Amino acid sequence: MPTQPKSSSAATQNSKLMEFFVEQLQDIYWVEKKLVKTLPKLAEAATNTKLKKGFTDHLQQTQKHVSRLENVFEIIGQEPKAVKCHAMAGIVDEGEEIIDETDTGTAQRDVGLIFAGQKAEHYEIATYGGLIQLAKTLGYNEAGELLGQTLAEEKEADSLMTQIAEEEVNQKASREKAMA
Ligand SMILES: [Fe+2]
Repeated sequence: MPTQPKSSSAATQNSKLMEFFVEQLQDIYWVEKKLVKTLPKLAEAATNTKLKKGFTDHLQQTQKHVSRLENVFEIIGQEPKAVKCHAMAGIVDEGEEIIDETDTGTAQRDVGLIFAGQKAEHYEIATYGGLIQLAKTLGYNEAGELLGQTLAEEKEADSLMTQIAEEEVNQKASREKAMA
């Protein structure tokens, strides 16, 4: 049996809120593992070199996110378990559709990849933001700090994509002709 953390009372350990916290961790754990498989496809599909590098760098961060979550599961005395997140599965499907519907080497494809990437980041930002608050409420301060490190990296990845869209790909895409 896992020992109860000193800062978290037995009452909070058995609460509905605790159950919800665990469910949301299982959701984001699935998400991070899915993104480890998806980011190489996005990097491969991207044309702009900064965008390609952004996806590749974020893959390395995402691998860390997976192991941080494993640490969080350990802190709260739970086995890591991934439960399918239909929202992220849908976002990833959209990303694949964008790849199918755009031509290789176009800035338009990069615009689409940034949309998919930012939708994914915003889902993660929302989830980590909420999880950090729940970790604090439940007395898991160390877990909250780990989740906070990941949140900061998600926000950076999101701003980088905004910057690439504004400075590199959107204008270029606006000069590409629509298909007949
Ligand atoms: Fe992540």
